[in-house]
Amino acid sequence: MRVLIVYYSMYGHIHRMAQAMAEGAKEVRGAEVVLRRVPETLPEEILEKMGAVEAQKSMVHIPVCTVEELATADAVIFGTPTRFGNMCGQMRQFLDATGRLWKKGALVGKVGSVFTSSATQHGGQESTILTFHVTLLHQGFVIVGLPYTFEGQMRIDEITGGSPYGASTIAGGEGARMPSENELAAARFQGRHVASIAAKLGGSS
Ligand SMILES: Cc1cc2nc3c(=O)[nH]c(=O)nc-3n(C[C@H](O)[C@H](O)[C@H](O)COP(=O)(O)O)c2cc1C
Repeated sequence: MRVLIVYYSMYGHIHRMAQAMAEGAKEVRGAEVVLRRVPETLPEEILEKMGAVEAQKSMVHIPVCTVEELATADAVIFGTPTRFGNMCGQMRQFLDATGRLWKKGALVGKVGSVFTSSATQHGGQESTILTFHVTLLHQGFVIVGLPYTFEGQMRIDEITGGSPYGASTIAGGEGARMPSENELAAARFQGRHVASIAAKLGGSS
């Protein structure tokens, strides 16, 4: 049973959450977990202006995903930073290249799940995940979120990401805040949850 974690991360927050997702998914017996990045669409000079070059270097060891790889997975967990309350352009471009898979119904019956990160607490995490789900439904994914059995999402003693729609982290205005222990626990829970449902489904249709 193959769990693919596909993400874009500009400054490393989603990258860190993706690692936690993988840790959780690996706890499920029989799960082969693969981490992949979607292709970059911004030129180097723009990444430099956005102060992203150092963070990008720390992720170069993660292979870049091809759309065909999606068809080899039983479950796909997508990670994207929030951009104006939606997924980032890099992820959108990657998904817009999956028309051939859609035509063949190649993703129908696979488990799909989403996590995100945003600068601010109410900056669109839920809208990013929910609007992402629309694309997954068009492709026939069976959508899985982060149930309230992950009790960490009930916390109000500290600022935290995480909703029934999926794990998330709050990066802060300058991006200085890295995922908290509670947010990483949410990611591990979601990864484990997705993998266990994929195992129960016994592979994609
Ligand atoms: C063009 C652009 C749009 C953004 N839009 C939002 C937004 O709507 N809400 C928000 O809270 N943060 C927004 N951010 C901040 C990013 O979500 C934040 O940098 C990201 O979650 C950090 O994750 P990463 O390090 O994995 O890239 C935006 C950033 C950029 C560059």
